[in-house]
Amino acid sequence: MENNIIYNNLNGAVEPSKGYSVAKSLLQRRSVRRYEREPIPEEDLQFIREAIGNTPTSYNGQQYSVIEIDDQNIKEQLEAITGQKQMKTSNRVFAFLSDFNKIKVAAKAKGLEYVDFQNTADGLIVGTVDAALAMMSAIVAAESRGLGCCPIGYARTADPEAISKLLHLPQGVYLVCALAVGVPREMPQMKPKQPENLLIFKNQYPSEGLEQPLLDYDQLILDYHRSRGDNAKEEDWIGKMLEYYAEGMNYSMLASLKARGYALEK
Ligand SMILES: Cc1cc2nc3c(=O)[nH]c(=O)nc-3n(C[C@H](O)[C@H](O)[C@H](O)COP(=O)(O)O)c2cc1C
Repeated sequence: MENNIIYNNLNGAVEPSKGYSVAKSLLQRRSVRRYEREPIPEEDLQFIREAIGNTPTSYNGQQYSVIEIDDQNIKEQLEAITGQKQMKTSNRVFAFLSDFNKIKVAAKAKGLEYVDFQNTADGLIVGTVDAALAMMSAIVAAESRGLGCCPIGYARTADPEAISKLLHLPQGVYLVCALAVGVPREMPQMKPKQPENLLIFKNQYPSEGLEQPLLDYDQLILDYHRSRGDNAKEEDWIGKMLEYYAEGMNYSMLASLKARGYALEK
């Protein structure tokens, strides 16, 4: 039927292959930090790009962009800035950006006055959520092809201005997270996650009863780290998270965001 035109640009890359399923991509996913040198097949890369392109976004505004990086020199500079070797050793790095530059350019092209939505907390959230969902689309797509991924949050926090300069980011664009993708050279143990009763509440947020499941989960993580053979360490969950948050208190993201053109006002 004429009204049933499907507007997409799939090129057949979505055919499931190699026996990987969505369930496996989601339920057996773990971050992979060591990669083979071999290249990623072009059809897998194209599938990742198409999955990124069909991400749901606020208002269908698509307030995000992605930079696909295969230039070894740029990848090495990313490693130097972030201290994350996956940036150098993975075949591909995808930088997920919150992007209000494109709508600004579009408004100007149409002779319309731009609205500085990125200067509001909601604008910041909208661009960040769009970019984060796009990264998850990429992860699921990559995993379904047997590839390994590692998100790199240090690409946002380590030195936002150096990264923005390296990637030529215009005003209104900031890097939310990077993703290293490659053919896996390791298959680490999956990390135990919070149990369902701590994650998925029924109808309303519970007014009590969180303490014990949280302490149990803390113990589970400690036991998991103790049991990791050569990789064993004394690391709990609660203490470690507070360490990370204390480190995060030293970041100056608000100033960095302002410098990127996100002058939060309300
Ligand atoms: C937004 C985000 C940022 C992350 N940043 C880093 C990072 O900079 N370096 C790293 O090695 N892992 C990073 N990770 C991976 C997490 O450490 C990992 O997802 C978490 O420990 C759970 O392990 P799993 O992915 O194997 O389930 C990041 C993950 C997310 C979602």
